[in-house]
Formats: sequence, structure tokens, C-alpha cells
Amino acid sequence: MLPILSTFVRAGRAAAALAGGVLLAGCDLNFWQMDGHQSTIEVAGPVAREQLHVFYVTCWVTLVIFIVVGGVLAYATIKFRARSDADEHAEPPPQRHGNPLVEVSLIGASVLALVIIAIPTLTAIWSTYDVPEAERENAYDVIAEGYQWWFRFEYPGEQATLTGDVKMPLATANELVIPAGRPIRVHLRTVDVIHSFWVPKLAGKVDMIPNRANVLWLKADKPGYFWGQCAEYCGDSHAVMRFRVIALEEAEFADWLRQQVKPARSLAAQPADANRPRPQFASLRTFRRNEAGITEQFDINPLESWRSKQAPERDEHAGLVAQGRALFMSKACITCHMIRGHEGPGVTGPDLTHVGARTTIAGGLLENNREQMRRWLRDPESVKPGNKMAAGYRNVGISLTEEEEVALVAYLESLK
Ligand code: CUA
Repeated sequence: MLPILSTFVRAGRAAAALAGGVLLAGCDLNFWQMDGHQSTIEVAGPVAREQLHVFYVTCWVTLVIFIVVGGVLAYATIKFRARSDADEHAEPPPQRHGNPLVEVSLIGASVLALVIIAIPTLTAIWSTYDVPEAERENAYDVIAEGYQWWFRFEYPGEQATLTGDVKMPLATANELVIPAGRPIRVHLRTVDVIHSFWVPKLAGKVDMIPNRANVLWLKADKPGYFWGQCAEYCGDSHAVMRFRVIALEEAEFADWLRQQVKPARSLAAQPADANRPRPQFASLRTFRRNEAGITEQFDINPLESWRSKQAPERDEHAGLVAQGRALFMSKACITCHMIRGHEGPGVTGPDLTHVGARTTIAGGLLENNREQMRRWLRDPESVKPGNKMAAGYRNVGISLTEEEEVALVAYLESLK
């Protein structure tokens, strides 16, 4: 074998081994961390699956083009390289121009590659645009509304009790609870700037644009807990504008709705009962800037963590709760937050009627536990820079003592 040919063969083998190694490693998802919370590779619903299919088709087609073009380039570079000093200074050989067979083949191959990509792309555009005809009857409608920097979710078909016989559509924040196995049509709105709704494992992103009625649909194959994220730059705290989607079996979803439409829980106690002992509350430690707000314990099984939030805490202290409720009014929290059945009428911040039953607070950034809730109440600016609650604290001159923080946490936690 000619020395140059054996070099070429060896180089080819090395390249093939490298490519094979990379592809095999790609199959081991942990190696690439492709099964993370916001993976678009490990999908959990038909819309994301179809979008992933388009991604793979595009990848394979472009990989083939890369290998063919790279191979021809490498072959020509090695075969026609200068072998001696004379070669380097030789006149170039006579130049030819045009080869109809090569040119027509290249055009044909390019068109073929584009058609191979276009077919799944067009199919996906059609099928992800709206719920498929066959499933439309069964579709469930929700409204997702972007705020700087959190998501409000409204259930237009569910009437919640405001007070007495007065009803209003059920609204919640940060966590979109849906029935699994059912197509969900999400109507996308915003009250301020452009945001974007994205649940990587369930469906690709669609923007929430002022005065424009965008729609996205998604479906979760089975019950699960999914991470979502605003995917359009929308100001200071865009990066921490997050949310969750919790998919439940139909029966569990119905139970959740039944609980959610009720007004807020009330405990029988007076603020005067707020006497110690109350050692059950975590002491406030100092948090590093950008310190993670989610514990590992929570992450092991987030859906179970969500379920455990639905029941009242065993060690709740009725006196503290009552004290917190009074503070919620006197500290002007009610100006921005609604707590149906209690004092709050505000609509600029998240509805907190059942905030105790959510797994996260502060736009999905912090785990909803005593320590993190207290961290948020004490200094919202350090958690989510530029947010309206911190501005409210400054404008109205709100400050909380440690006692007051503990009471407010107890009250919010009791709202199951
Ligand atoms: Cu909202 Cu970025």
C-alpha cells in the first residue's frame, strides 16, 4: 500500500472511532446531562416529541453533509499536497471549468436534503399549531399571563368562591396544574412586556405579546412535575422568571380543583393566642447572593413533594396564623395580593388564596418552605432584583421584625 494511502486510511479510522465514541457517549444521557430539568431531549409529551423529531432529522441530515464535505476536503488536501520542493514551486496544472454531472448532482443532493428536513418541519408546524381535530373535544383551556417576573394561571372554566355567593374564575400563580393525558390549550397573555412560555419537556416556546392572542397546546403523557421558564428577555429578573407544570391523574386533578375553588382556610384563633412556644420555625440565616432556593430533598421526588404540600402542616400554630393574618392587612400586603375569603383584594401580585399548597414561591425560584418564605419576605430585592414587592416595601416604608416575619410565614403556610 502506498504510504500516503495508509496514512489516509489510519486518519479515517481514527476519525470514525472518535465519531463513534461521541455518538455512543451521546446514548449515555447522563454523560451529557441531557435528562436535566429542562431537557428538550428527554421529552414527556407529544408536542415536545414531535419537535424533538424535527431536531433529530435536521441533525442527521447535516451530519451526513458534514461527513461528506469534510471527507472530500480531507481526501483532496492529502492526495494533492505538495510532496517536494519542486511541487511547491510548480506551475498549477491546466484549469478546467464546469462539470455538468457534478453540478446537477450537487443541486439534486441539496434539494433532497431540504425536502427531507421540510417534510417533518411542515408536519410539526401543522400539528403543534392547535390541538388535533380528533382530540379537540377533550381539550382543557387555561390562560397563562406573564408579569414582570412571574406567571399567573387562570382556569376560565372553573368558578372559585370569592366571598359568599360571589364567584370569579379560579386563578393561581407560578404553578400550572393540569390533567395528564389530556390536551391543554394555553392562551398566552401578558400585562406588561413580551414574555415567552416554555416547558421544555412538554412543548417549545411561544411568546406572550401585548395585545396579541397567541395559543400553544401541550399534553403530558403521564403524571409528572415539569420545569418551565420565561424564554424571552423581559427585564432585570428575566433569568429567574420560572414556573412549574404539575400533571395529575384526572381524579387527583379534580380533587385539587375542588380544594382550590374554596376560599382561604381559616383557623379558629385570635391574634392574642400568639404566645410562645414556637421553636418549630427555622431561624433566619444569611443567604449568599444567588444561593439556590431548592433543597436536594425536594428534588428527589418533586411530585411527591407537591403532594405533601396539599395537607395542612402538623405543627401549625393557630395563634401565630391569626397574628400573621392581621399583619397581612396592617403591613399593606393586601394592596397587591388577593386571598379569597380573607381580607386581600389586590390583583397586581400573585393570588395567594392557596399559596401554602404550592411547591415554589417568588416566580418558581424558591422552594416554598419556612426558611425560603422568610428569606423572601425579609429581602425580596436580593432574591429577584427589580421586583414590585421590593419597590412596594421601599415606597410604603414596610419593614418587618423577626416576630412579624415568623407570623406572616405561619399565615401564608396555613393557606392550603
Ligand atoms: Cu418574562 Cu423573560
